Amino acid sequence: MKIRESNQSDKASIFSLHQNSFGAAEGSTVAKLAIDLLNDETALPILSLVAESDNSIIGHILFTSVKVGNLEFGNAYILAPLAVAPKMQRKGVGTTLINYGLDKLKQRDASLVLVLGDPKYYNRTGFKAEHDIEPPYKLDYPEAWLAQELRTGAFDNVSGAIQCATSLRSPAHW
Ligand SMILES: CC(C)(COP(=O)(O)OP(=O)(O)OC[C@H]1O[C@@H](n2cnc3c(N)ncnc32)[C@H](O)[C@@H]1OP(=O)(O)O)[C@@H](O)C(=O)NCCC(=O)NCCS
Repeated sequence: MKIRESNQSDKASIFSLHQNSFGAAEGSTVAKLAIDLLNDETALPILSLVAESDNSIIGHILFTSVKVGNLEFGNAYILAPLAVAPKMQRKGVGTTLINYGLDKLKQRDASLVLVLGDPKYYNRTGFKAEHDIEPPYKLDYPEAWLAQELRTGAFDNVSGAIQCATSLRSPAHW
């Protein structure tokens, strides 16, 4: 398996991947979100990584910039979406993509990363619910609003609601 940054010509494969992985109920919405975010100037800077095996894309993870407290776009990121092809799940692809992405963001001197997701899955890669950062909307499952520091002390004095990319601002995504 190889991990690399995505490019323009990957967009159709990334769309299909999210559509298939998230299934009938959510697939089209998440696939559209992924492509909208890749085209969204208000999401910049972003980190978009694909996992490839036998020349096909088997995983995709996207980190887009947010602003919160005194942290500017590019200092803080949100992870959304993440998908692994159904046949390739539970083989460590998702975990590898998350850890690879976190390392890349550290290299960019980013301070923190947020995610709205299953705590059982994201606790394993260092995300936790203990922080003072708020989502843009009131959540049905606030325990799924997670964050992690990429440098020690990054949570200190950072509180309040995030500003995220326009494409992510629809209440449907929260
Ligand atoms: C969620 C997802 C990205 C995980 O990727 P993956 O490559 O299958 O996960 P990994 O192999 O890295 O980790 C597997 C472990 O995570 C846990 N896990 C996997 N999917 C999980 C889920 N949806 N919820 C909770 N835990 C999960 C399992 O405990 C599993 O460990 P086990 O096999 O020892 O029981 C993938 O299953 C997927 O694309 N699902 C559909 C899309 C989706 O729901 N994305 C949500 C992102 S918020």
